[in-house]
Amino acid sequence: MSSDSTKKTIQVALGICLVCSILVSSAAVSLSSRQAENKQVDKIKNILAAGGIDYTNQDPQQLYNDKIKAVTVELESGKIIDDPKEKSDLLVPKNFDIKKVSNVPELSESIPSSEDIAGIKRKPSYMTVYEVVDQSGNIQKYIFPVHGKGLWSTMYGFISLDNKLKTVEGITFYEHGETPGLGGEVDNPNWKASWKGKKAFNEEGEFIIEVLKGKVDPSNPNANHQIDGLSGSTLTTRGLDNLMKYWLGENGYGPFIDKVREEGSHEEI
Ligand SMILES: Cc1cc2nc3c(=O)[nH]c(=O)nc-3n(C[C@H](O)[C@H](O)[C@H](O)COP(=O)(O)O)c2cc1C
Repeated sequence: MSSDSTKKTIQVALGICLVCSILVSSAAVSLSSRQAENKQVDKIKNILAAGGIDYTNQDPQQLYNDKIKAVTVELESGKIIDDPKEKSDLLVPKNFDIKKVSNVPELSESIPSSEDIAGIKRKPSYMTVYEVVDQSGNIQKYIFPVHGKGLWSTMYGFISLDNKLKTVEGITFYEHGETPGLGGEVDNPNWKASWKGKKAFNEEGEFIIEVLKGKVDPSNPNANHQIDGLSGSTLTTRGLDNLMKYWLGENGYGPFIDKVREEGSHEEI
């Protein structure tokens, strides 16, 4: 058989395809645990960043172990679940994955469309809340996971509040698919920094942060609870406004926030 016959060409092409597919799939399998590990480290870095903890030149995992205490909160009651493992391994903070838990019927619930301003359809019935603690174990800040629809994607992030649950300490997004330079400006450090110090609740305890379409007018009396919208990104901006309102409202962490206000932090309960 001549070396340039059709049969030989097909055999060589199939051989190359087989070798390549074996190489690609073994790389994917061997790297998957590394990818999961990197994703976990990235999440930890975002939790630290939202809590205003600088991790440059430090081991993020060590800082997280020293400064963060993660608790499992039942959203409807606002109660902290002391032994989440008893309900499910998936609720243990180190295993907690919003996407996974949202798909387990007994650990999650569908959201009536009239309430679903974050556009997420289902939510976990329990969420992990992160407390920033000092060396004596006193709570300095709370960090709440938040998520909701932007234009192209569901955006996943954190918002941190001071221990009196009054002002914003920081925000970060660790996963989204918005357009770089438009909705992707959720990652802009200046924009994220503009949240720090904003007054988050009114006298009645309602979450009052507004992400505006446009810029905040500093002379406006409401400026201390307003945030600049992302320019050219009306839909991502609206998504941000809605997802924060959802998660810090009565269907999100509201009952937990009310409980902490009424009873003091759970350390004192
Ligand atoms: C390629 C492309 C990417 C876009 N990405 C975003 C985005 O990430 N977020 C967003 O809100 N709008 C994005 N937009 C703009 C929206 O399509 C839409 O025009 C805009 O949100 C509406 O804003 P307006 O009411 O100010 O016109 C994008 C537009 C194009 C053409």
